[in-house]
Amino acid sequence: MCGIVGYLGDKNTKKILLDGLKELEYRGYDSAGIAVLQDGDFQSYKAVGKLLNLEEKTKDFITEKFAVGIGHTRWATHGKPTELNAHPHLGESSYVVHNGIIENYAELKKELQDDGVTFLSQTDTEVIVHQFEKNLQLTSSAFEAFEKTISELEGAYAILLVTKGESETIFFAKHGSPMLVGIDTQNDKYFASSDTPLIGHCSDVNYFDDGDYGYVTKEHIVVFDKEKQQKEPQFTKLATNKLSAQKDGYRFFMEKEIYEQSDVIADTLLGRVNDTEILFDELEDEFFNGIEEIKLCACGTSYHAALSASYLFERHSKIKTSVEIASEFRYREPIMHQDTLFVVISQSGETADTLETLKMAKNAGLKTLVICNVDNSSMVRLADASILTRAGVEKGVASTKAFATQVSIFWMLSLYLAQLRETLSREMIQEQITLLRAVPAAVKVDDTTHERIKRLSKRYLHGHGFFFIGRDIFFPLALEGALKLKEISYLHAEGYPSGEMKHGPIALADPELFTIALLPQNLLYEKTKSNVEELSARDSTICAISPITFDKADDFIQTKHHTSYMLEFFEMMVVVQLLSLEISVRLGNDVDMPRNLAKSVTVE
Ligand code: AGP
Repeated sequence: MCGIVGYLGDKNTKKILLDGLKELEYRGYDSAGIAVLQDGDFQSYKAVGKLLNLEEKTKDFITEKFAVGIGHTRWATHGKPTELNAHPHLGESSYVVHNGIIENYAELKKELQDDGVTFLSQTDTEVIVHQFEKNLQLTSSAFEAFEKTISELEGAYAILLVTKGESETIFFAKHGSPMLVGIDTQNDKYFASSDTPLIGHCSDVNYFDDGDYGYVTKEHIVVFDKEKQQKEPQFTKLATNKLSAQKDGYRFFMEKEIYEQSDVIADTLLGRVNDTEILFDELEDEFFNGIEEIKLCACGTSYHAALSASYLFERHSKIKTSVEIASEFRYREPIMHQDTLFVVISQSGETADTLETLKMAKNAGLKTLVICNVDNSSMVRLADASILTRAGVEKGVASTKAFATQVSIFWMLSLYLAQLRETLSREMIQEQITLLRAVPAAVKVDDTTHERIKRLSKRYLHGHGFFFIGRDIFFPLALEGALKLKEISYLHAEGYPSGEMKHGPIALADPELFTIALLPQNLLYEKTKSNVEELSARDSTICAISPITFDKADDFIQTKHHTSYMLEFFEMMVVVQLLSLEISVRLGNDVDMPRNLAKSVTVE
């Protein structure tokens, strides 16, 4: 999740921009930059790594007269974290910063390059400033050129653009990525991609709606809506507490990240799915040549994503798939064949055990792929290819949106491979694409369900343990639900294949044994139901999660009637995440920083 700031006024522009970017550090980034236009001249600075590096570069840069300025912290989605890829991006006489993903950047870039435009970066963002300057030649004003440019972009964006010809103006556009503008008592203008950079400067802010675009000058804030009709800015009072602003008003980062899953999965899909096929720019066409087997290797929640993926690869791509726990794989002297694609999965890209298995695979001459959330991490740098999950920084130690985007990537990858191996018809691929596109809606948190989970969580604060049970791909989801609960409530929980309960664990059944049963209607419902009935018959306390009412449950969380088990998977994922959160809250635990845990386990 990148960060954007902007300022128009005669205060210390550089300081305002840098302080604003500091307030956005919590969103995670790998490079940063600013551009300031004062006295008709641009000054721009960029740096990889922490903001300290950017501050060092700008230490002799003075900005104490009227200026317009923009700044950005970048979380890489297209192109490595380098200075060239850092924002702001320069045209001939304009700079732009951008959050989001321009889905049609490739065709715009090709047209511009055919017109002789030279690109410096690998980013999608850079097409915006070159397209704007192309349009400057075709229109009668900078605003018309900007308006035309915005109409030509597809995807999600929050954009700030400044240009030499309009040295007292900042152009803005918002669609799918957050941005707001504020004014202070001297009528200076402040932009940011979230509240915190404006706290302490502005008391009144306008949160832009999707489709809003326009410009600000010393005197005005001019806003147009998606119908190109001018509209009055709607100012509201700005929050005053920075920490709650960073959490966007949620109680914990984990809660915020559960609610963010809808947006980040939409980002994960952007540019990788069209009406008829799955696309991965990151993979050469021949990447899978000679591959007859896939081995997935990870730890913790990422291992659960890998286990989920194995069902999808074998079902859709008809390719033999195995899954390994990295800490086990490292030492069991595994047999590895050259026709195996070795895939590591890691939110951080730094987990020691997983990284070591990647090295083992490379040393054995296997082709390697990493599914990761952090560009330029050790695993991304080492693997032959990488696919970024685009979940944005995940601050909660208990992983949620990283898991959701990992499974989303694997679902797409299983279809991509099915396209290459022709194991699914075009019609079936298109059906799956329709389902994929429904995931963001499926994971939107339903307030009624959240309230229900909040209420029933009070019954699960003790007991001698939990079983989370499910079948098929809901077994790894059961494992994930159990891990979430263990991590943040410190209560014991096990994920178990529901068909296995009768092979021993059912001996534990009694009213103090809580069973969270995942009962999707589109996958082995009757089989799972009979397993749950066996537990209920022995007086185990059952919490059933299902679209179908289950009368033998002590608690029942109703989910929606979807047409596919994969949409049920994602909806039930949100339910088990919220359940662990609300139990932990009631127990008074530190949800975001649970005891004994670290966000990235970089030691064995
Ligand atoms: C997940 O909630 C845990 N924080 C932990 O299991 C984590 O998934 C595991 O340590 C792997 O981390 P990685 O994805 O960064 O490799």
